[in-house]
Amino acid sequence: MAGIYFHYPFCRQACHYCNFHFSTQLDYQREMLQAFKKEIELRAEEFTGDVESIYFGGGSPSLMSLKSIDNLINVLMKKFKLHKKIEITIEVNPDDVSYKYLLALSSIGINRLSIGVQSFIDAELKLMNRIHNADQAIKTIDWTVKLFDNFSIDLIYGMPSSDLSSWKKNLNQALSYNVPHLSSYALTVEPKTFLAYKVKNKQVQLIDDDRVKSQYDWMVYRMEEAGYENYEFSNFSKLGYNAVNNSNYWRGKAYIGIGPAAHSFDGQRKRSWNISNNIKYLKSIQKGILPSEFENLGTNEAFNEYLMTGLRTSWGVSLQMINQTFGKRYSSYLEKQVENHLIDQRLYWDGDALKVSKKAKFLTDGIASDLFLLKN
Ligand SMILES: C[S@@+](CC[C@H](N)C(=O)[O-])C[C@H]1O[C@@H](n2cnc3c(N)ncnc32)[C@H](O)[C@@H]1O
Ligand code: SF4
Repeated sequence: MAGIYFHYPFCRQACHYCNFHFSTQLDYQREMLQAFKKEIELRAEEFTGDVESIYFGGGSPSLMSLKSIDNLINVLMKKFKLHKKIEITIEVNPDDVSYKYLLALSSIGINRLSIGVQSFIDAELKLMNRIHNADQAIKTIDWTVKLFDNFSIDLIYGMPSSDLSSWKKNLNQALSYNVPHLSSYALTVEPKTFLAYKVKNKQVQLIDDDRVKSQYDWMVYRMEEAGYENYEFSNFSKLGYNAVNNSNYWRGKAYIGIGPAAHSFDGQRKRSWNISNNIKYLKSIQKGILPSEFENLGTNEAFNEYLMTGLRTSWGVSLQMINQTFGKRYSSYLEKQVENHLIDQRLYWDGDALKVSKKAKFLTDGIASDLFLLKN
């Protein structure tokens, strides 16, 4: 079993773009810790093999007390075999943390931080209703550099009223801290968010796709120039700093998600997900019932998913792997279906691996969906 993910479903304030599962009602945090431990117990037989990564995500897991985090790591250490070089990551929001808190995190075994900076421009942070400002983010990075060898920064590009020059300033500032890893996502307007409401009412104007693309393309160019590998569409790392947790997702390995709305995958075809409601989750776990649903992916779905995640990575999609896992029908189909993309140099073969060319990178998701097998 590759990884364990904890979803901590509380945030101090709702960012206007976010539709992840969280509540700004901060009650029930103690109950949540108890429920996490009970869920681990209830699912003990699913934990097989070495645990390669533990990931505290959310929501805002930096709202957790040190005692709670330490407690969970100890439970896992006692019950399961943790890999010698295990990666233990926590997402931190700049407004939640102090030097003392980060120091204590490093002393209880956390060895990687993912800092939710999003932007170094206060006007952008305000527009997105982030609770922190740029100074707080910079302070958090300064402390982190002193305490952690391995950490990552999250930034969002394609913000309303951003342009190439403001984005260049933003990204260059991140690079000035010599970060080992960067995750950077395009702002997406998710349904039922305050951002979607504001866009609909013309209170916020989005920038057009060409401008988003120019920000992405410049990031890919600039990160490469600065010595990073673009090992996944939105992720960049210095040599030796690929995220173990996320790389395992993209390689189709098994993981267990604990907490409300957390997803799990058995490494084969079975996906499951917990209920996205804190109270219902707590009540069900307290009764000893897992509040989850599952699905078994059909062969086409699994094939399509492999294309979608694989094409986003630097290692690409392996024809041999398709042959072995899905059969000759699928590899022959793919070889035929890619022809036009090869001619137009959007895709290329690197030995056995199908990869997206640099010029077509921004179009990766569209190319992948063009290759999907929809019928049986
Ligand atoms: C859900 S957050 C959890 C971590 C932490 N609470 C934070 O805000 O950084 C994980 C990442 O998803 C990003 N994210 C969430 N919704 C997004 C959206 N609509 N568009 C782009 N990025 C988004 C966040 O900005 C953050 O970097
Ligand atoms: S982006 Fe992070 S802090 Fe903001 S609402 Fe989403 S999970 Fe919470």
